[in-house]
Amino acid sequence: MSSLFARKSIDQLQAEADDSGENSLKRTLGAVGLVSLGIGAIIGAGIFVLTGEAAADYAGPAITLSFVLGGIACAFAGLCYAEMSSTVPVAGSAYTYSYATLGEFVAWIIGWDLILEYSLGAMAVGVGWSEYIASLLQSFGVHLPEALMSAPFVFNEQAEAWEATGAYVNLPAMLIIGVVTILLAIGIEESAKANSIIVVVKVAIVLAFIILGFAFVSSQNWITDANPNGNFIPPAIDGDGPTRFGWPGILGGAGVVFFAYIGFDAVSTAAQEAKNPQRDMPIGILGSLVVCTILYVLVAYVLTGIVPYDQLNTGAPIAKGIDALQPHYPDWLITVLGPAVKIGAIAGLSSVILVMLLAQSRIFYTMSKDGLLPAFVGKLHPRFRTPFLTTILTGVAVMIGAGLFPIGVLAKLVSIGTLFAFFLVCVGTLVLRINQPKIDRPFKVPMLFVVAPLGALATLFIMTGLEWGTWVRLLIWMGAGVAIYFVYGMRNSNLGKASAA
Ligand code: ALA
Repeated sequence: MSSLFARKSIDQLQAEADDSGENSLKRTLGAVGLVSLGIGAIIGAGIFVLTGEAAADYAGPAITLSFVLGGIACAFAGLCYAEMSSTVPVAGSAYTYSYATLGEFVAWIIGWDLILEYSLGAMAVGVGWSEYIASLLQSFGVHLPEALMSAPFVFNEQAEAWEATGAYVNLPAMLIIGVVTILLAIGIEESAKANSIIVVVKVAIVLAFIILGFAFVSSQNWITDANPNGNFIPPAIDGDGPTRFGWPGILGGAGVVFFAYIGFDAVSTAAQEAKNPQRDMPIGILGSLVVCTILYVLVAYVLTGIVPYDQLNTGAPIAKGIDALQPHYPDWLITVLGPAVKIGAIAGLSSVILVMLLAQSRIFYTMSKDGLLPAFVGKLHPRFRTPFLTTILTGVAVMIGAGLFPIGVLAKLVSIGTLFAFFLVCVGTLVLRINQPKIDRPFKVPMLFVVAPLGALATLFIMTGLEWGTWVRLLIWMGAGVAIYFVYGMRNSNLGKASAA
């Protein structure tokens, strides 16, 4: 039982990070590469797809405040991540940190939880990618059969039941996951280069949208049937289902759009591939987070200011925003911009999938090195030096999920799982400061004794905004994880074996 609480020593982790032998990852990423990896992971389906549904169903124009709330929680958690990743610069993110601070069982729980964040995250973004492909093709007059473009199941929140949609499978979502998986299996250097180009495109289209739309924001667009006075925060609605507005709507909306912030922590999973992790990890994490928070708040403000929020419940809301600018700009500009935004979003979503799948395979790699997963998972390809087999197997599983499930259910489960992981990171950072105050910390959070508890509280608070169904799914997933640990991980863990010997 003592293995439940067995901890890896920081020395051991730092030694693993320095190991540059045969079976280690290549160090190729600098500070700019890491910020770009972060933005590549962050800006994606959250802003391009989910903002619309979150505004229409949860918060109305006040979705802007949901983004502020999500940004604040991430800033606290991001600071803790930065301290952890500079102190423990090993691939594996929150999983590794908790192994050093809270013991093996909690580490496993987080590692298992991070599957929600990265694998289900990639599924959700794959579905978002499919929405934008459909929208792009439509703008060229091509209509693909709906039965092959969407999930065969949806979850009816009112009835709290799954329903068949009549569709067979979401083929484009599966396709993009397959392509990204192949890219990743071949190697990170090539993928990081493609990522940097995509990040520039993605930020450019978001900026273009903000700049072109800002002057035309009007509170007239806040007026809807449910909000006849045009309040910035529409009145609360009683009853079942996700539609709520008012302050509960802002909190629920924060739970949904929290998805948009996920990814800055993926930077920390690349610690072993960073040239100078001590200096560059905090820059990568916090830099990418700050840039994205500012962009999100502005996009949400502009979008709900140019399109009434009750019209935003579509798969491609930003594209709808561009259409709404038609009366204000020359036709040619909108004609060019419409498809350009969609193409940019498609590229941007691809890079998110890339970073998420990359992070997932690196976490599996680290867990397997620790003996919590079978050894084959951590085996590197002799030439590509990537966890080849794991990358392929993960890719296939994610393809199947992306083909079958709708984005809303996936994204909320990703959000709640990630909020939980962030909560544990905040707690872990505090525990490590208290237990081991003297170890070398290249980046120290100022006022950690305030920041970490606030981070923990903020993440829990946003979790309470998500529906009961999402909580149930989280509990089922975590329950399965606990069972697997007792059946496999506890018996096979290297640390457990070492302490038994
Ligand atoms: N933050 C990422 C996105 O919005 C997961 O797609």
